[in-house]
Amino acid sequence: MAVAGSAVGLGNFLRFPVQAAQNGGGAFIIPYFISLLLLGIPLMWIEWTVGRFGGGFGHGTAPGIFHTMWEKNRFIKYFGVIGIFGPLVIFIYYNYIASWTLAYAVFSAVGKYGPATDQESMLSLLRGFQGIEKNHYFSSLQYAYLFFLITFAVNIFIIYKGISGGIEKLCKIAMPTLFVFGIIIAVRVLTLGTPDPSKPGWNILNGLGFLWNPDFTALKDAKVWLAAAGQIFFTLSVGIGVILTYASYLKKTDDIALSGLTAASTNEFAEIIIGSSIVIPAAYVFFGPSQIQNIAAGGAFNLGFITMPLIFQKIALSAFFGCLWFSLLFLAGITSSVSLAQPTIAFLEDEFNISKKKAVLIFGIASFLLCQPAIFFLKHGVVNELDFWGGTFCLVLFATVETVLFGWIFGIEKAWEEIHHGADMKIPNIYKFIIKYITPLFLFFILTFWFIQQGIPAILMKGVSESDKPYILGTRLMLLGMFLPLVILVKVAWQKRKPMRVRKKK
Ligand code: ALA
Repeated sequence: MAVAGSAVGLGNFLRFPVQAAQNGGGAFIIPYFISLLLLGIPLMWIEWTVGRFGGGFGHGTAPGIFHTMWEKNRFIKYFGVIGIFGPLVIFIYYNYIASWTLAYAVFSAVGKYGPATDQESMLSLLRGFQGIEKNHYFSSLQYAYLFFLITFAVNIFIIYKGISGGIEKLCKIAMPTLFVFGIIIAVRVLTLGTPDPSKPGWNILNGLGFLWNPDFTALKDAKVWLAAAGQIFFTLSVGIGVILTYASYLKKTDDIALSGLTAASTNEFAEIIIGSSIVIPAAYVFFGPSQIQNIAAGGAFNLGFITMPLIFQKIALSAFFGCLWFSLLFLAGITSSVSLAQPTIAFLEDEFNISKKKAVLIFGIASFLLCQPAIFFLKHGVVNELDFWGGTFCLVLFATVETVLFGWIFGIEKAWEEIHHGADMKIPNIYKFIIKYITPLFLFFILTFWFIQQGIPAILMKGVSESDKPYILGTRLMLLGMFLPLVILVKVAWQKRKPMRVRKKK
């Protein structure tokens, strides 16, 4: 449930429908499913397996886990730093975005966005809230900051309560709740019919058609394949480093094969069934075929924070549905953000033998400071920059390293035995071949194509305005200032390290 909580997030309800609509509609599902079968599910199994394996030697994070898998190599532990750095980078902006959903849940309940009745004024409201401009809705960042503080405090509280007392408890309540909320909203949207009888074409079936009618020509475009693979990584939370840490707490006899598959399936249900039944069909019936193109092109945030509030204003019980929608997003967000914090905490606990209390305190202070640029310099593209490194680049790189390590260094035969310890299912043998050859090859192509198409222009700051460049450079320096100390910490930890010990199960 905790891994499913990490996977089901804002990506399922906002990112997926927008990606599908922008990349060939129904045809997007073809590269999406291929990526799920050849990347997503193998990586799930890999991360559950190596996590549990490393956990048996007292390591809950990638540096130690990689080291136990390839003891002879002195450098592999440094690659593992990506598995702590990446989630920390995502945490510092994801947490802020999750706080907007909490704010908007409250705004829906109290009717705060009521006066904004069109796209333009709703955008002003959002920009005012985010401190991008001063306007009559918001004159400063104070509300955004307040909700950030609340969300941050909730995260720290849950992490402090620990894996079973905090994260598992949260997920056991939040996950079923968010599914119920999602189903209620999806049913409401799917029963909207034709809200404006003078526009018979603006109906729910056409709305679903806009998302699902396949445009097969899109499959010739490498961009569509990249988008599908990127979505699989993001939505399943694989390649980040968090699943390794969660799995490190398992016992040798716990099932990982079926649990990994169950977590992935839960996520796919939330994404494909619920996620695709809400934002796009709802936007279509109220804004029609010509505007929906612009709305989808405007991206996930515009759809979630501008279009959806406008839609809720147009239906009965608007405060209720608005509040339900943003609460759903908040629950989805917080179950993901706590997982992003866990690798840093586990690293400090496991490798430096410090108490949970101290580890949470160090994490709390450091991440609080690191969150500030994302809040105050949002308009200068800091969040996008953090997402580029933490949410895209590190993910693909980390996934490639762990897959090669698993299939080739650790060895597929040994890996196979390890996966099936305590397993309630037998993984089809074809996956031996897939994990050893297909997944790394696929990852290699993605890494290369992505780097050429999107990586190089982003690194060279193509399209970034002159006034934003200092902020982007500043963000990169900050990232370097996070990465290098982590490398040094790994070095220090290994210098004073005792021989491998078996960790007590929590
Ligand atoms: N897997 C999380 C999401 O989909 C990060 O938002």
